[in-house]
Amino acid sequence: MEIFINNKSYTAEDGETIIQIADKFDIHIPRFCYHKHLSIVANCRMCLVDIEGFKFAQPACSTLVQDGMKISTQSAKTKNAQKSTMEFLLINHPLDCPICDQGGECELQDVSLEYGDDHSNYMQFKRVVVDRDVSPLISTDMTRCIHCSRCVRFGEEVAATKELGLLDRGENMKIDSFIEKNIDSELSGNMIDLCPVGALNNKPYRYSARTWDLSQKKGISPHDCIGSNIFYHIYNNKIVRAVPAENENINQTWLSDRDRFGYEGIYAEDRCKRPMIKKNEKLLTCDWDTAIKTLNQNLNTLKNEKKLDSLGCLISPQSTCEELYLFQKVFREFGANNIDHRTIEKDFDYQQDYPVMPTLGCDIKDLEAYDNVILVGVNIKKEFPILSVRMIQAQNKKTQFFSINFQSSNEDFNPAISLALRNDQLREFLDYLSNKTNKPNYIEEKMFHYIFKYIKSNKKNLIVIGPSIGQLPNQTEILYSLNQYSKKINADFGYLTEHCNNTASWLLGVLPHRLPLGKRVDKEGLNAYQMIEKKLSNYIFYNLEPECDFWNNDLVEDALKTSKMNVFFSSFMTPFIAKYADIVLPISTFAETHGSFINIEGSYQAYKQIIRPKKEIKLGWEVLNNLLFINGANNYTFDTLQNEIKNNIQDFDVTTNNNFKLSNQPLKYIQKDIFKFTLRNTYNTDQIVRRSKSLQQTRTGKLKNILLSNDLFSSHKKGYLEFIDKDKNIKSELYNSDQSLPHNTIAYQSYKIGDAFVGARTGTVKIKS
Ligand code: SF4
Ligand code: FES
Repeated sequence: MEIFINNKSYTAEDGETIIQIADKFDIHIPRFCYHKHLSIVANCRMCLVDIEGFKFAQPACSTLVQDGMKISTQSAKTKNAQKSTMEFLLINHPLDCPICDQGGECELQDVSLEYGDDHSNYMQFKRVVVDRDVSPLISTDMTRCIHCSRCVRFGEEVAATKELGLLDRGENMKIDSFIEKNIDSELSGNMIDLCPVGALNNKPYRYSARTWDLSQKKGISPHDCIGSNIFYHIYNNKIVRAVPAENENINQTWLSDRDRFGYEGIYAEDRCKRPMIKKNEKLLTCDWDTAIKTLNQNLNTLKNEKKLDSLGCLISPQSTCEELYLFQKVFREFGANNIDHRTIEKDFDYQQDYPVMPTLGCDIKDLEAYDNVILVGVNIKKEFPILSVRMIQAQNKKTQFFSINFQSSNEDFNPAISLALRNDQLREFLDYLSNKTNKPNYIEEKMFHYIFKYIKSNKKNLIVIGPSIGQLPNQTEILYSLNQYSKKINADFGYLTEHCNNTASWLLGVLPHRLPLGKRVDKEGLNAYQMIEKKLSNYIFYNLEPECDFWNNDLVEDALKTSKMNVFFSSFMTPFIAKYADIVLPISTFAETHGSFINIEGSYQAYKQIIRPKKEIKLGWEVLNNLLFINGANNYTFDTLQNEIKNNIQDFDVTTNNNFKLSNQPLKYIQKDIFKFTLRNTYNTDQIVRRSKSLQQTRTGKLKNILLSNDLFSSHKKGYLEFIDKDKNIKSELYNSDQSLPHNTIAYQSYKIGDAFVGARTGTVKIKS
């Protein structure tokens, strides 16, 4: 249809609103309550426009276009209507712009300047609303609230967690949290962006800069495999806040709190600031030249003495593509074969049959095309909050979700079925779904009815395997059973991985059995677990914390105690590194270098350096390049390195990426004793997030208790819990019952219980009676 705005003709579709057409053609209409991803309520009246044939101006956000409609955004009627709205809004809004963090980017301030009056007819006192401390992430100045209800609708419609509501009526109306609860959802920070005034603000950023003094750089989230796009705001070479960069295919206009506040970890007090070398049992600072030369000498000695089998090279998949690629290249040039990134895994029997790289099996935006999505070993709300938004959207269309995990998942969307199973039960359950023999009696009959009724091969099905499966001692058989089941129901097969760059780590050959693009190696090396278990004589650790980033932190300590050379390329100085390192090379975090990540749908995303590192900290890829160069190989610039990687991966056709296809059924795992597992705490997933002070102050960040299934809890009432984890005796008073756990299960919420590390991430324990 044809409509006219300010006497110019535009084409519009049936069902579009005036504001949508105006936005499409860059015609500015002021607004407060309208947001393109929220429902329309038309309660602020700021978008009133003059429409020919209407006596009064009409809200552009809720008025549908009609053929031949003539709209004016500039006429006197429009201006008067907008001026009157501004006057009403400013009756109660305080004029405290000089001390408001929103100043300079406040929609009310901008609109007031453009559409407001130069004086107020209102001489009475302004309304005052008392503030409450509702979150360590969001500061409130509710007197500034203009009741647009964006924050309320966000909770209801996008996050599906109603944290804020409009209470009372008229003059007393206020936004508050329900039943005096705190705001603690994993997406809460989005309300800061949505609030058009300074009522909800970024608490950690409060009063640290004025918006016009900030510079903005675009980055990619390093905290999960979704790859949310972010704008980092920088003041004096320091990131002071992060906001979403719009990407409709990935994070739309949202950001998880982990992505928004995680950067704080960069400024942790335990940053490694200078290279160090151990001399006479003491770690002493040295210059870069000495550190690199010593490392190079040691590596060349190993090479000359043909002892490279005693070298374990381990890197975190939180590293950039450039670091990952160079890492495997440098150590392969020396002749090392023990190269891996899968430090949180134990069972590697699956590895020959694994795809070239793990992917979700579809694009993130296409999740809603599935009839059924079966989530296995993942809690989306906690582990991938930004994906939760997509899943809520998909569920609102037609997709049904089924969740099978070790703890029944508390999701923001409503899974049709949510099952909590131990790892041995999980295999039995999956085998029954595939073969219909040996029916597990611990699952209600009606669950099976429902599953068989809806999950059929003529439907569009997707199975998504979460990172918790990777931690199981029987990972291979679970993958095998899932693969069988996927064939039975004709499902696509996808993964959600532990870190932001697991996909690149596979694709770029940071593996003991594959080179870049899945090519076979001549001689297969040890996997990450074997490298630790076998107590090698020499280790290279890149971006890894021995305390938290391994399948079993006790085993890592044992290995470090006995090895001869421990080299840490690290941004942080942890107690284990201080105790066991022979060489420490302080390297950049993701923000201090140029870099790139490949997200779980296989999208390659590059970014430029966001802040400069401190003087003695070097960019990780430069240090690796230096090692290559002094041994006579290529001397890369960042651009030549990045181009080489891009050229490599351009040759790889994602659609040829095979699904998992294990041909021989693995041995059945026998579960003895109590099943124990470590929950993936959202704010403990990587070394930067772990150090974000604000996130650690949230309820999730503080979770430290041990959880017992109801049966274990009710038979244990001593006031303290004492159990044997392998050969370790653990005693703790911090335990609760958790009815979302399957029978005979114990779950750790942290890597530490008091001062003791939890040891293996999964396995068995015996409770002392
Ligand atoms: S707090 Fe902000 S977003 Fe929420 S209703 Fe008030 S002005 Fe709108
Ligand atoms: S933006 Fe249209 S009424 Fe609020």
